[in-house]
Formats: sequence, C-alpha cells, structure tokens
Amino acid sequence: RILILDFGSQYTQLIARRIREAGVYCEIRPWDVEAERIREFAPRGVILSGGPESVHEDSEQTPRLPTTVLDLEVPVLGICYGMQTLAHELGGAVEASQTKEFGYAEVRARGHSVLLQDIEDRTNAEGHGLLDVWMSHGDRVSGLPAGFKVIASTPSAPIAGIGDDDRGFYGLQFHPEVTHTAQGQRILERFVHGVCGCSGNWTADNIIEDLIARVRTTVGDQNVLLGLSGGVDSSVVAALLHKAIGDQLTCVFVDNGLLRLGEGDEVMQTFARHMGIRVIRVDAEARFMDALAGEADPEVKRKIIGRTFIEVFDEEAGKLDNIQWLAQGTIYPDVIESAGASTGKAHVIKSHHNVGGLPERMNLKLLEPLRELFKDEVRRIGLELGLPAEMIHRHPFPGPGLGVRILGEIHKEYADLLRRADAIFIEALRAGGWYERTSQAFAVFLPVRSVGVTGDGRRYEWVVALRAVETIDFMTARWAHLPYDFLDDVSRRIINEIDGISRVVYDISGKPPATIEWE
Ligand code: XMP
Repeated sequence: RILILDFGSQYTQLIARRIREAGVYCEIRPWDVEAERIREFAPRGVILSGGPESVHEDSEQTPRLPTTVLDLEVPVLGICYGMQTLAHELGGAVEASQTKEFGYAEVRARGHSVLLQDIEDRTNAEGHGLLDVWMSHGDRVSGLPAGFKVIASTPSAPIAGIGDDDRGFYGLQFHPEVTHTAQGQRILERFVHGVCGCSGNWTADNIIEDLIARVRTTVGDQNVLLGLSGGVDSSVVAALLHKAIGDQLTCVFVDNGLLRLGEGDEVMQTFARHMGIRVIRVDAEARFMDALAGEADPEVKRKIIGRTFIEVFDEEAGKLDNIQWLAQGTIYPDVIESAGASTGKAHVIKSHHNVGGLPERMNLKLLEPLRELFKDEVRRIGLELGLPAEMIHRHPFPGPGLGVRILGEIHKEYADLLRRADAIFIEALRAGGWYERTSQAFAVFLPVRSVGVTGDGRRYEWVVALRAVETIDFMTARWAHLPYDFLDDVSRRIINEIDGISRVVYDISGKPPATIEWE
C-alpha cells in the first residue's frame, strides 16, 4: 500500500483516486502526522502532494518532509511542492521562479529514468519524449540533490523532474494526477507498480473479500442494525453485511412519504424478496405529514424530517433486542471532508443516516465498512454484490427527499402529484438516453396555480418545474441543454396525464448562483 502525505494541495484526493484506480490501496495523511503512524502504516511507497506553501521561504511554518519518510527506505514520489520539499531535504536548492507556470506545458523527458521510460505523447526531432502536462507552480528546483539526475524539463523550468533510480526517489514539478496530464495515470502506475512493486490487486473482488473478513472479525456473532434508505451507500452496506453475516443483519427502511414513485416497493423487492435480507418497512407517511403540517421554511422542514426520521428509527430499533452494532454508509470522502486532511479521527454521520443519540442510548457500537472507499469503488462492489445497475447508477437523491422539492408547505396531495410528474420526466430521460448524460434530474412542485384550458374546460391548476443539471462535483453545475423536442414531449405528457398540473417550466439556472435543489 501507498501512503500519500498531504501538503495542502487541492489535488490530494485526486492522487488517491488515481492510485486506487491503479489497483493499489492507499491512504492520505497530513504531512505532520506522527512518525509512529507512518511506521505503523508500513507503506511500500510514499507520495508527497503539492501544496500552496513555498519551500525557499525558510520559515519554521512551512511544511517539511518528515525525515521518517526517508528512513523507511521505500520509494518516494514528490509532486510539485512535494518535489521541492524532497529536493530541499536531500540537499538540493529551491528558488522562486521568474516565470510562473500555470496550466498547459510541454515537458521534455531527459535521459533515462525508470519513472518516465517510454512514457510519452510524442517525440521531438532529437528523439526526446514529449509530454503534455499540467503545471502549477511558482517555485522551482534550481540545484539537484546528490544522487539525482534531471529526468524532465521545460523551457522555463530546466529541472521539471528529478530522479534517483537507485533509491526510487522521484520528483515531478507537474501534476500527473490531473487529467490534463495525458500520460499521468501511466506515470503514477509506473511508480506504484514498477518502482514500488505493488501488485494491482485492489479490485472489486478482493475489496469485498477483505471487507467481509474484517466485518466478520469485528462483529463476531453479534447483531447489526442498519438504516436502509435505498441510496447507493446504505444499499451497498446492506448487501455487503448480508453476505458477511447473513441473518445477524436487520435493516429498517422508513417510508417518509417523500420518496419517489414506487421507491418503497422497489427497496423491498430488491432487498427483502430477491436477496432475502430482513428488512422492516415502516410506513410513516402520515406521521411525517403531521409533523410537517403548516411549516414552509426549508431549513425547518429539513430539521423536522431529520428529527422525525430519528424518532421513527429509534422506536423500531427499540422493538428489537439483542442488537450491538449500528451500521452506517459513511464513505471515504465524508471522512476526509470532516477531518480536513484525513486525520482519521473525526466521524461524520451523514444527515440522512443520522440516527442521532441512538448509538449511545442503545449502547451501540458504530460499524462503517465503507469508510475507506471512494464512491466509484462503492459502486463497483455494489454491482459485484449483485445490486441492480439501475440502483447503483441512480442520480443522487437528497435525504429530505421530495420535502425540499415541494416549495413551502408540504401536503400529501402535492407529493402525490410531484411523484407522478417526476416519474414521467425520469422515464423519458432514460428512454431518450439522457439519464446517463445528466448528473441529476428531477421535478419540483410549485404551489402556484395557473390557468390552462383543456377542450372546453378551463383549468386552474399547479405548476411543475423540471430541473436537469450536468456536474462533476455538485459544487458547481450547468443546466442541461435538453432538446426542445424532448422537453416538449415531457411537458405534454405531464399535463395530459396528470390531473392537477396545467403548466410545466424548465429551470435554466446554473449553480452558482442558483443551487441544484430549489430549497
Ligand atoms: P444544492 O441544492 O446545494 O445540492 O446545489 C447539491 C447536492 O446536494 C443534494 N442535497 C442534499 N442532500 N440532504 C441531502 O442528503 C439535503 O438536505 C440536501 N440538500 C441538497 C442535492 O440533491 C445535490 O445533489
């Protein structure tokens, strides 16, 4: 396995993603993690991330490469700031560069190095390999540490890559982890496979076996409770735990009346009927509607939905005896987010799975089998565990569900109309091949009456907005440019088929300034 030391780069998570993609397990630690933790982790190799600081500003504050890393006698790859601190600690020189390089650069491979050998986008007239890379730096290495040679250069950074093949120490001024560096994945694979000697056995199969073994050891013959939402993470936890401990698992699925059309039945079908998992379905629609009655404020609605979920879950759990564990679908990005640079200390409990004080009150221990996995790994093992592809690749659905898609006060009548409109939209997206091309799409209920005419009759009915966005990270998003014909078709179907809706509008706001959800 590989240890990634984080020096504060915005790309650190991306490095971890790439290494996992290469089939090698890795974890991120802050650069100032205790030496003992580094030794305990016993990595086969270490990657030093980039970072915003400057090595040549010889202050006490700037992050430094811990000497423990060099004492491990394993290969080290420093990226950007990581290269500078590596060079600096080994006696090289780092200076502020006159020309700052940001963005695209063409790097020339120089001489032979195990790291870059035969990796190139093209060659120049002299037969040197050329690489298209993404640079982002102000400082540069100006003097080589002993034992190193230059392995890459650009016109403005003569030392854009350094290497010592004997020790397996390398530094790259550019970022191999970003997709703009075309050969980046190959370079990282060369490092972890070729230089560190890690085999690429971090695959779905092996991950599952490993997780199952660990769950069995942890849980023994005790019993586990899981709040199943039908979302990807809790679904994968359910399938995994069922495979690991069979009937020692009990799931509670709360139908809050704010789910999509047919969702409750689908969850029961998949988990209870097909997989034989013990799922207690709680029909709590009336209770949620009562609790929400008369409330129009989005944040208050969120709180009510969260609180009512905890109450219902709590009551169901109280009916079960002999439960020792509460399972959660926490995944690695949640852990990293909460811990800043993943100190591994903090625990996030996702809002939707948040069962508040339940663990303490019932004296439950927390089980989070997906804690070390990224979303795409969770998806891969979900498929491998036999969950339907449709469920695994579903667009995200917020914890409060339709509660934040019915603007203002929530009524069952609104939820029923919205569910039908949403189902028509999603079905059309799937049929037209648009579902995979959008990141999230849904209908929103607007409690506004608008006039319409059908045949001879005059209608005075509700408005539905359609929202579809494209995004990578859900932090920013662009509205999906769905074809007019497609929108026309969906709009007709909704108005014709659903009594109570007389107007459909399409949301053309980007994020920012608008958010993806309307509330
Ligand atoms: P916004 O609306 O903030 O949404 O642009 C970004 C992403 O987060 C989801 N979302 C939520 N998820 N509880 C959740 O579990 C919530 O209260 C919530 N609000 C928004 C939203 O669906 C989108 O994917």
